[in-house]
Amino acid sequence: MEFKFTPENIDRINKEIAKYPVKKPAVMATLYIAQEQNGYISNEVIKEVAAILEMTAEEVLGVVTFYTMYYQKPMGKNHIQVCTNVSCMLRGGYDIWNQVKEKLGIGNMEVTGDGKFSIEEVECMGSCGTAPMLAVNEDYYENLTKEKVEELINSLK
Ligand code: FES
Repeated sequence: MEFKFTPENIDRINKEIAKYPVKKPAVMATLYIAQEQNGYISNEVIKEVAAILEMTAEEVLGVVTFYTMYYQKPMGKNHIQVCTNVSCMLRGGYDIWNQVKEKLGIGNMEVTGDGKFSIEEVECMGSCGTAPMLAVNEDYYENLTKEKVEELINSLK
């Protein structure tokens, strides 16, 4: 299915492009906007981003596959990212990760049958001082305990 950006998102992309002498450096921001609109980066999205930024589809795909923040398949409505890097690990990050996996019955980068949740084990998200932490879409939840995680997931169901 063909993908086209909304007029509002075209404006946002043009603002990104205007920051640079050529269009190519706007690729990460453009892909981020695309993912926000489409939920994930499909082949049609790649074609459209390439056309707008005067890049080849292969160049865009290279960026998509290099960075873990771009998804090539639809993720859940609530995408939960659990940090298990050093600070979080030392403060129970793996307990939280295991709890989330068990509670939702899915593994890394999988989506629940109802499409409500997907989960991802991630590296440091820059919130080490309030470890352990997780993010649901753009929102951070910090200083987690098992009780807080239980409550959070129940509230999202
Ligand atoms: S180690 Fe988890 S946020 Fe930095």
